[in-house]
Amino acid sequence: MHEAHLALHSSATIGTIDPRLYGSFVEHLGRAVYDGIYEPGHPAADSDGFRTDVIDLVKELGVTTVRYPGGNFVSGFRWEDSVGPRDQRPERLDLAWHSTETNEVGLHEFQTWLDKVGSDLMLAVNLGTRGVSEALDLLEYANHRGGSALSKQRIANGRTEPFDVRMWCLGNEMDGPWQLGHSSAEEYGRLAAKTAQAMKMYDPELQLVVCGSSSSSMPTFGEWERVTLSHTYDDVEFISCHAYYENTGDLGSFLASGVDMDYFIRSVVATADSVKAVRGSSKTINISFDEWNIWYNTRFENVDRITGTDNWPVAPRLLEDTYTVSDAVVFGSLLITLLKHADRVTSASLAQLVNVIAPIMTEPGGPAWKQTTFFPFAATSAHGRGVALSLDVTVGSYDTERFGAVPLVDAVATHDEEAGHYAIFAVNRAVDHPTELVIDLATLGADAAALTASARTLSDPDLDAANTREDPERVALRDLPVHRNGSELRIPLPAVSWTEILLS
Ligand code: AHR
Repeated sequence: MHEAHLALHSSATIGTIDPRLYGSFVEHLGRAVYDGIYEPGHPAADSDGFRTDVIDLVKELGVTTVRYPGGNFVSGFRWEDSVGPRDQRPERLDLAWHSTETNEVGLHEFQTWLDKVGSDLMLAVNLGTRGVSEALDLLEYANHRGGSALSKQRIANGRTEPFDVRMWCLGNEMDGPWQLGHSSAEEYGRLAAKTAQAMKMYDPELQLVVCGSSSSSMPTFGEWERVTLSHTYDDVEFISCHAYYENTGDLGSFLASGVDMDYFIRSVVATADSVKAVRGSSKTINISFDEWNIWYNTRFENVDRITGTDNWPVAPRLLEDTYTVSDAVVFGSLLITLLKHADRVTSASLAQLVNVIAPIMTEPGGPAWKQTTFFPFAATSAHGRGVALSLDVTVGSYDTERFGAVPLVDAVATHDEEAGHYAIFAVNRAVDHPTELVIDLATLGADAAALTASARTLSDPDLDAANTREDPERVALRDLPVHRNGSELRIPLPAVSWTEILLS
């Protein structure tokens, strides 16, 4: 059998894993909110109209923060529409997704839902059709305790305590020609700087995210980061990265998507650090990877996109990708890449959460179920805590069309001292053979003997297997044998698999 060798060193620390690495994203898009998290008529709905079956799944997924309310949606959003008496809230055209936004769920309702799932709000302001003044209004409305016009309005709307939102996104994907208010790096950099400075005049402790590129394949990638950071460096804490991957028929390259994400992160870190050096700054800007996932975007562009000036549906079925086993394996490998950069990627948002390119699906009046991608996220969020440890994996490589030679196995480890366990997350990209993972624990010294090992994998002979409404439990994690010989572990990683090894 092919083999991959690695040794676990407790001192090979990459960095402390910020819990915000396990964030997600809910946009007013398709059925993410309406008929997703919120469906008042559903048998499982609570008194606020939120589906309790979805709440339970979100909790099980282990989502720490949720970015809201967009995404492209935010660039045309008037936040005032979404607060106050519901029967007075206007219906608005959402140009981003060619839909009608009823505003039945807004800031207050979403925070109520977040309190139920136990996640923190990460709020985006509209820098597409709006600017500094509206961002300041939203900040005052959300965070000011009382005594000002907008805080009084919030209190009158039923929320005495401030929302106290700590993390704010300064717009969304402003480099993208599809974005309402699409700007040059220079224009956006100036606006983002003014907005950030104004927001910090209210509260210097806010954590602000400036928009980076919407993908590393944008023609402006690199220069966009340099220019926007040159304007905002002193006033923001994060720059964002967004990346989506899809299998276009070249499975080998698709399985190596983590290589692309790795390059993306390294490039943005290098650019941020070069701006730091030029400015002589002692401050370090980190990455908020606040949109990442598998997304069959070409399907959306070619089939699902809504058009027509008389056609503005409410909560249409949009971006409802069904995820296969191979999608979930790549998805798990992207989590490995994020952990390998835990020193600089200190916030991330899986895009998205329910129904829209999501790990959780629902049917109106019907069930909710887990997609294949649910499993790597839930396991990594549950066990990938504490510090991230780098691993030197000795393994062969395979040739890919897009990235050249790529290692067959990629892996990262984590050590949660408090919980008393190590976790190793590994992807086997080999299509036609299993790879035996050989782990040397001798480097852990006396601790090694006390550790018990278990392994769970996501794999299937049918790489296209998926969970659907008709067959919601077709794919799940299954146990793998762990063969132990002294301080050596041997685990047979199936072909095209994502695996978690837990040492507790
Ligand atoms: O997540 C779907 C969309 O992808 C978001 O609205 C946008 O920011 C990105 O292009």
